[in-house]
Amino acid sequence: MADLAAEGVHDPDRMPFSVPWTDLPPRERARSVVQHHWLRLGNWTPDNWALNLAVFEHGQIVGQQTIAARNYATLCEVNTGSWIGLRHQGRGIGTEMRAAVLHLAFVGLEAAEATSGAFADNPSSFRVSSKLGYEPDGIEHLTVRGQVTVMRRLRLSRARWEEHQQASVAINGLSACLPLLGLTDKTNELPDGLQSPNPQQPHPTPQPHHPGTSATRCHTGSARAPRCSVLRDGGWNRCCRTGRRSGPGSPSGWRTAAGAATSDGP
Ligand SMILES: CC(C)(COP(=O)(O)OP(=O)(O)OC[C@H]1O[C@@H](n2cnc3c(N)ncnc32)[C@H](O)[C@@H]1OP(=O)(O)O)[C@@H](O)C(=O)NCCC(=O)NCCS
Repeated sequence: MADLAAEGVHDPDRMPFSVPWTDLPPRERARSVVQHHWLRLGNWTPDNWALNLAVFEHGQIVGQQTIAARNYATLCEVNTGSWIGLRHQGRGIGTEMRAAVLHLAFVGLEAAEATSGAFADNPSSFRVSSKLGYEPDGIEHLTVRGQVTVMRRLRLSRARWEEHQQASVAINGLSACLPLLGLTDKTNELPDGLQSPNPQQPHPTPQPHHPGTSATRCHTGSARAPRCSVLRDGGWNRCCRTGRRSGPGSPSGWRTAAGAATSDGP
């Protein structure tokens, strides 16, 4: 992945990331990719995590897709970022890999919403987001390369995701990771391998391995009131929130461009 970044991620005339890590010379850029992976693994907590996933095509690494969250257990909201090696762009991979982590968020983690964002001069990123159902969510002013730059934030609700999802995705090995993601209620985990082979049937009914019981993964507040989906009696019931939270939202820099360097590096 470091070598891929060294080869080039975008036209040097523009900067799609809020942290301009791609301005580094190739060798330093490659090193920064490795360091960023170590950084995110090293400071991982259930309340503040970022999962940098490598993206492969025919066994060859082509890019990185990040999914991240702060206080996920209460907010049920993820942020995504991504980059693809320049020579692999424009072939649908960016759309597919974003759809894959959205499936992880909305099916595997029962997210309520996903956020992203891009600078005005990034039509590819906007197009990927719009194909997947994201809607405008305001702007944010950032300093990039010493200039004031407008980040256009984007937001995807669960309902919009359901309308726009298009990928066939399988999730494996998630159960053991849930505590690392802030999801500690493990009474009724989804079976590993949960998948939606048909985009028209996004939520295959999980096998009720504890029939007659229910479990929520996301909770609001100490009362542990359910906020997201509830797996109940082997079927899906939704209890997503109806309004937006009034809280402060993600800290500045966190909502930045849909790039691996969302807040602090590649
Ligand atoms: C953004 C990025 C991840 C998208 O990945 P990708 O594989 O190139 O995207 P896809 O091929 O799946 O989709 C790109 C879409 O943008 C469209 N597009 C590309 N250039 C465009 C332009 N100048 N104007 C309008 N649409 C454009 C493509 O036609 C395609 O839409 P379509 O499928 O409807 O035809 C990738 O381009 C990238 O890594 N860019 C550099 C880093 C970056 O910008 N990261 C995101 C920061 S916000």
